[in-house]
Amino acid sequence: MGLTTDIEQVRADFAHGLSDVQSGEAYAEQLRIDFLGRKGRVAGLFASMGSLAASERPAAGKRLNGLKAEITSALADLDSNVEVNAPAVEAELDLTLPGDPIPRGALHPITLIQEQIKAIFTRLGFSVFYGPEVETEYYNFAALNFKPDHPARDMQDTFYIADDLLLRTHTSNDQIHAMEQLDPPLRILMPGRVFRNEAINARSHCQFHQVEGLVIDRNTSLAELKGTMIHFAKELYGPDTVTRFRPSYFPFTEPSAEMDIYWGLDTERDHRITKGTGWLEIMGCGMVHPNVLQAGGLDPQEWTGYAFGMGLERMAMLKWGIGDIRYFFEGDLRFLRQF
Ligand code: PHE
Repeated sequence: MGLTTDIEQVRADFAHGLSDVQSGEAYAEQLRIDFLGRKGRVAGLFASMGSLAASERPAAGKRLNGLKAEITSALADLDSNVEVNAPAVEAELDLTLPGDPIPRGALHPITLIQEQIKAIFTRLGFSVFYGPEVETEYYNFAALNFKPDHPARDMQDTFYIADDLLLRTHTSNDQIHAMEQLDPPLRILMPGRVFRNEAINARSHCQFHQVEGLVIDRNTSLAELKGTMIHFAKELYGPDTVTRFRPSYFPFTEPSAEMDIYWGLDTERDHRITKGTGWLEIMGCGMVHPNVLQAGGLDPQEWTGYAFGMGLERMAMLKWGIGDIRYFFEGDLRFLRQF
C-alpha cells in the first residue's frame, strides 16, 4: 500500500538527515523545516491521506501521527544537544575575532606606594633591606634606647607572642639588624609590616606598613635629613606639596621630628582624617641616637646617622584620597580594582 511505503521512506530519510546533523554536516533547523514544516514531508503525507478510502484513514492517521511524534521528539533531543552540534556546524575558525579577555590582577595600593617609595630612594642611592616581623624585646625596644619602663613596651600597646617574643611595633628594629649585618657607610630602606594593639577605626589599625630609612656616614646632618625628606615628599606627591616639620621625641633619635603633609580642610572627611588640623603626619625622623649606634656596633665618635620611618597607609590615603584605613585590609574588589 502506497502510504505505508511512503511513511517508511520518510522515516528512513529523516534518520539519514538526523545523522547528518549529528555529524555536523547539516543544520538541525533545516531538518525540522524539511520534515515538520508547513510544506514538509510529514505535512505532505497528511495531505495524501485525502486520496485514501474513508475506511483506511483512521489506521493511516494513527501511523502518521506516530511518525510525527517520533520526529518531533528526535528533534527535541537534538535541541538539548545544540551546543555540542553548533561548533561542528560552524567549523571554520575566524581568526579576525577578538580573543577572550584575560583577566588581569592589580597591585594592592600599599604594594604600589611601597614600590614608588623604593623607586624614589633607589634613585638617591639607597638599597633595600628586610628584617623580621616577629622580634625580641632587644631589637624592638632595648637596642633602640627604650628604657625598661617605657610605656610602649606595655602589653596594652604591643602584641606579645611569648615572654620575649613580640610582633614588632615599628620597622626601627631593622636599623639594628642592618647595622649588625652591613658595613657602614649605609643608605638603606627597610619596608615591612608592623603591629600595634590599637582599636580599629578610620585612622588607625592593629596592623599597618612602614618604610624605615637609615643613613650612616661620617658627617650626616639634620639639614641633609630635612632636605632628603622634602625632596622625597615632592617626588611622591608633586612639586607643590606643602610640608612642615614639628619637633618630636623618639628614644632612638636625638633630635627628633615629625613631618606633616598638608591634606586640606575642605570636607567633613578632611576634618575627620586630619583631626581638624588639615595636616597629616606621615613620618617620624631624627638623628640616630649615639646609644643606638653603639648597640649596632658602631663608634658614635666616628659615625653619625639619620633615620626616618613612614606609615604607608597614611601616605596612600593622602595620595589617592582614601578616607578610611580599614579599606586596605578588607580585600574588597570594588576598592582594589580602582588601582
Ligand atoms: N619608629 C617610629 C614610629 O614608628 C618612626 C621613626 C623611625 C622615628 C625612625 C624616627 C626615626 O613611629
